[in-house]
Amino acid sequence: MFSPKGPSMRELVVQALSSVERGYDLLAPKFDHTPFRTPDLVLDATADALRPLGPFGRGLDVCCGTGAGARILQPLCRGRVTGVDFSAGMLARARRAHPDAGWVRADVRDLPFDGSFDLAVTFGALGHFLPAERPALFAGVHRALRPDGLFAFPIGAPAPVTSGRYWAMLGFDLAMRVRNAVWRPPFVMYYGTCPLHAVRADLSAAGFTVTTVPLTALGRREDGSPRCRLVLARKS
Ligand SMILES: C[S@@+](CC[C@H](N)C(=O)[O-])C[C@H]1O[C@@H](n2cnc3c(N)ncnc32)[C@H](O)[C@@H]1O
Repeated sequence: MFSPKGPSMRELVVQALSSVERGYDLLAPKFDHTPFRTPDLVLDATADALRPLGPFGRGLDVCCGTGAGARILQPLCRGRVTGVDFSAGMLARARRAHPDAGWVRADVRDLPFDGSFDLAVTFGALGHFLPAERPALFAGVHRALRPDGLFAFPIGAPAPVTSGRYWAMLGFDLAMRVRNAVWRPPFVMYYGTCPLHAVRADLSAAGFTVTTVPLTALGRREDGSPRCRLVLARKS
């Protein structure tokens, strides 16, 4: 559907009617040919913003998928890089692309790490968690970090109500809510559930000190504000 190497419409429908874990298992072989994989432009802008704050020791990519984050974590970290995800299919692709990193299968709502990492990142995955699930996710990342460790992730500015993107995202979320009301297992993926103010409040409640920096390489909106910011949550 997205490119000749990407999934067909039929494959996407089958995936969307599965659980999140099974859906990504099915999508894994073609995931890197979809827009769901975080674009290199976003990864590089994140790396540019993190570089002056490093170098870091051990790095963790939360919801690593096929390993997009490892490409920037490895040069930023002097220690070993680990990716964690619950899809065995996605992890198999990640392992193949980055055999020198560590790959752990786990549900990130119950992360199995204790004080081991200096830098944690996550890309393109927060929409998979209901607001009520974020405290457990953020508490797990907080636990996984060493004192003074950093949790960083890009977050887009809300689309203006007058833009096509706003209505496309609203339409997608509505379709997912209808799907989840009538079909089991649920597939949680909503664009509108993780605005910066809510994410910031949950991070603060988990014990992080939160700042943001604009990712200016990703452009500005018409009013001059950055399209995307990097959230920097420091374990204090
Ligand atoms: C959109 S993909 C993003 C993958 C990668 N971070 C990227 O940017 O290309 C979301 C990933 O989150 C993982 N995921 C979603 N919910 C999860 C959970 N509760 N525990 C572990 N992984 C989860 C999925 O398996 C999938 O690999």
